[in-house]
Amino acid sequence: MSISRNRSLEGRLVLITGASGSVGDAVARRLVLHEVDLALAYHKNEFAVEELAAQLRKDYDCESQLGRYLRISLHRVDLESVEEAEGLVGQVEKAHGRMVDVLVGAAGWARKVERKGEMDFLDIAVEEFDRTININLRPTFILVKNVVEGMKAKRWGRIITISSMAAYGVGQNGCHFAASQGGLVAIVKSLAAPLAEFGITINDVAPTPMRSIDDMIFGRGDQSRFGETPPLKRLCEPWEVANVVRMLCETPFTTGQSILLSGGLGHM
Ligand SMILES: NC(=O)c1ccc[n+]([C@@H]2O[C@H](COP(=O)([O-])OP(=O)(O)OC[C@H]3O[C@@H](n4cnc5c(N)ncnc54)[C@H](OP(=O)(O)O)[C@@H]3O)[C@@H](O)[C@H]2O)c1
Repeated sequence: MSISRNRSLEGRLVLITGASGSVGDAVARRLVLHEVDLALAYHKNEFAVEELAAQLRKDYDCESQLGRYLRISLHRVDLESVEEAEGLVGQVEKAHGRMVDVLVGAAGWARKVERKGEMDFLDIAVEEFDRTININLRPTFILVKNVVEGMKAKRWGRIITISSMAAYGVGQNGCHFAASQGGLVAIVKSLAAPLAEFGITINDVAPTPMRSIDDMIFGRGDQSRFGETPPLKRLCEPWEVANVVRMLCETPFTTGQSILLSGGLGHM
């Protein structure tokens, strides 16, 4: 068999939620190298996606780099709103005039629970539980429902969720956050078989805490303490998550998996 470059991503339309965050940003920068078009969804940080898009256009929007012109669209969405989440895929498909081929769910939200007593889960309010599920988990259900028809028609699709090692019981961010991440893994495992016959794969990437711009999950001090925990003695980097996303896009025999980026933590 001759060795040739895998071109299966070329010309695909990739929708990335949380593109204004550290993981979404890294995924966009990684996949653009494969000559995809990008739909970048954000919630409040318009500046971040505008900067990202400007940089990608500057670096790649010329025929000499990609052999064609790069198309990028920006989409503001509050995924906590069912109505807005329901509307996102239609907006993207209208902007590009075609169906989404790859969905990467990198939007997420977390707030550290201040521990008052021995067991911090007693301090998690029901409203906090609901909000975390509604931002981190429910949109995946909605977005997957909205992208699969287009993918089925083409008999090709890639769906990738970004969860966390919290899905496996690691983390200090509360059982509500863990439930939202574990739910993503459960969706992936549950949908892999029914989607397989249409050429659609669905997988998850579950990293340890990362050096996130927004210090999403931990405060800075706690992050550096966690960095000492894995045998590799550091935190995961967003580009490492993006590399796995790329691998999952180009490896169609892999479906229904949650790939752990654990730095060697071996208790899963
Ligand atoms: N950061 C970590 O240490 C870490 C570790 C393990 C797993 N993860 C997982 O990785 C994913 C992304 O993490 P990250 O480091 O990229 O976080 P981040 O830098 O804080 O970015 C979070 C992203 O989610 C978006 N978002 C938040 N609430 C939203 C809403 N209601 N509607 C739509 N978008 C919303 C944000 O949009 P705006 O900024 O535009 O408002 C931002 O783009 C999360 O799902 C998380 O579970 C993160």
